[in-house]
Amino acid sequence: MTLVLGISGSPHRYGNTERLLDAFLDGTRDAGAETRKVVLSTLSYASCRGCNACHRTGVCIVDDDASPLLEEMANADVLAIASPIYSMGITAELKGLIDRAQFLWARRMVQNTLDYTEEHLAHHRGFFLSTAGSDWPTVFDGAYPVVQALFSGLGFTYAGNIVVNGLDTFEGGIRGHPTALAEARAAGRREVNLLLPL
Ligand SMILES: Cc1cc2nc3c(=O)[nH]c(=O)nc-3n(C[C@H](O)[C@H](O)[C@H](O)COP(=O)(O)O)c2cc1C
Repeated sequence: MTLVLGISGSPHRYGNTERLLDAFLDGTRDAGAETRKVVLSTLSYASCRGCNACHRTGVCIVDDDASPLLEEMANADVLAIASPIYSMGITAELKGLIDRAQFLWARRMVQNTLDYTEEHLAHHRGFFLSTAGSDWPTVFDGAYPVVQALFSGLGFTYAGNIVVNGLDTFEGGIRGHPTALAEARAAGRREVNLLLPL
């Protein structure tokens, strides 16, 4: 069965971003997938120390909640990453996790022990969901390359985004938005249906 893993980088429980992620996950379940959601603020993990030990070994010397989570993320069929925009970027919770995936970059770019085939990339689809208070059209621009770095490291095709800005102007936040939740649910259904069997 298709496994969809949703990662919420929002520290605000059941806020705009987690609701958007929930709608996406509902859509994937509509299409028959099995889902799991992880809320980063409930986990305990350290920041990358920048020791570069992984450049020599391909392994991170830190062992905490990020270690099994990154492994689980790599094994998902669809990986849905969600973060609100905080100070024009993703949250500290999500950035901290992404930095901890540096050992995968080391395997690919320093050690040359990890490479993803086209077939692998076709079967592993990454999706980014984000919300922002302001209606600035560029408000998500700082987030995309960071999310791309995560998907590249884990061996996922960056399949698409649902990004919703201007939420400060809607009563009830995302619940007051006319289309966002329905769009996220439809995107979840589509992602599962587009997945190529491995
Ligand atoms: C610390 C903090 C920083 C924020 N920075 C921005 C920002 O730079 N640009 C923006 O448009 N909205 C910003 N916002 C608003 C949030 O992006 C917006 O309210 C979002 O939908 C919150 O999602 P959540 O309910 O999951 O926390 C910020 C909110 C907080 C709490």
